[in-house]
Amino acid sequence: MKAVRLLEYGGQLVFNDVARPTIARDEILVKIKSTAVNHLDLVEASGTARQILPIDLPWIPGHEFSGVVEQTGSDVAACAPGDAVFGTTTGMGAYAEYLAVKAAAIARKPSNLSFEEAASVPVASQTAFEGIFTHGHLEKGQTILIHGGAGAVGAYAVQLASHAGATVIATVSGDDEAYLNSIGASRVIDYREAQFEKVLREKVDVVFDLIGGDTQKRSFLVLKEGGHLVAATQPVSQEETARHRVSGAMMRLAPSGEGLGRIARLPEEGTIRPDVATVYALEDVAQAWKDIAGNLPGVHGMSPSGPGAARRRPHGKIVLRVA
Ligand SMILES: NC(=O)c1ccc[n+]([C@@H]2O[C@H](COP(=O)([O-])OP(=O)(O)OC[C@H]3O[C@@H](n4cnc5c(N)ncnc54)[C@H](OP(=O)(O)O)[C@@H]3O)[C@@H](O)[C@H]2O)c1
Repeated sequence: MKAVRLLEYGGQLVFNDVARPTIARDEILVKIKSTAVNHLDLVEASGTARQILPIDLPWIPGHEFSGVVEQTGSDVAACAPGDAVFGTTTGMGAYAEYLAVKAAAIARKPSNLSFEEAASVPVASQTAFEGIFTHGHLEKGQTILIHGGAGAVGAYAVQLASHAGATVIATVSGDDEAYLNSIGASRVIDYREAQFEKVLREKVDVVFDLIGGDTQKRSFLVLKEGGHLVAATQPVSQEETARHRVSGAMMRLAPSGEGLGRIARLPEEGTIRPDVATVYALEDVAQAWKDIAGNLPGVHGMSPSGPGAARRRPHGKIVLRVA
């Protein structure tokens, strides 16, 4: 089968033939239709975080996918060949024509989504769901501040929090305001024009921080006593949480087929909608990584595409079409 592989840390991606994977009793073989690109793929490939995010080289990247079940292991009863599925990977990566994956990590593809749209959902939507509900304990009637609300994870967080009956405030670039309002934000703060802690009149119950750094430090100033700071990009200072009498921790996505199955119903009900920014053919992965690296200066030897990486880009995820 064809697959994209990284042969050495920081090296070029190669697209060529590798052996088709075999499956264990609790796995399924999926014929991949689409996979999506995550910042994490580039961080892992760069080797900069190899102590905490080790990979085995040569390595096939890709944490999420959509496709059709080709074969099931002897212990698998939940799906059958021909089923359209989507999910997160459990070992090998999804930048390939076939994927061996634990049956427990997949769910039925939402019927109203294309394979390209479905491949963009598992990581961002589950991160948003776990971030705001499992770790943030967000409830109806509460107020949440989402940093990076126009990004892939942030847009799901805005939609899920708004649907749950929370008041949603988000920090974004100014030209994302109309988009954020259309998906459920009550208030949008342009992070390039204003400091959120200076313009917010009331404190919030939950901060979902998809940015980190100074944004995270200043977030303590807007949290109510007893509130929750959920960080997706870096650990949270426990000295600061104690000083401000809040709780705070960095989350790490713990995806599951069961959780994804719950989320799969939401696009069908119209509660969330996925946005796909760009679709590339699998063999054009290098361009896809260049696009996403524009937001990650210094990773994988790539630099931002413009001064300050302040370019406009379409909302949603970058998807690779495999079949
Ligand atoms: N811990 C976990 O389990 C986990 C899971 C998934 C993702 N993540 C991490 O979560 C982060 C977000 O992921 P993503 O896929 O949503 O990224 P993304 O699609 O690139 O979105 C990032 C968004 O942040 C905005 N932004 C940049 N600087 C900002 C600032 N100072 N204040 C407010 N918004 C700002 C960007 O807007 P502009 O482009 O307009 O500036 C963009 O819309 C990444 O670092 C990713 O690695 C963590």
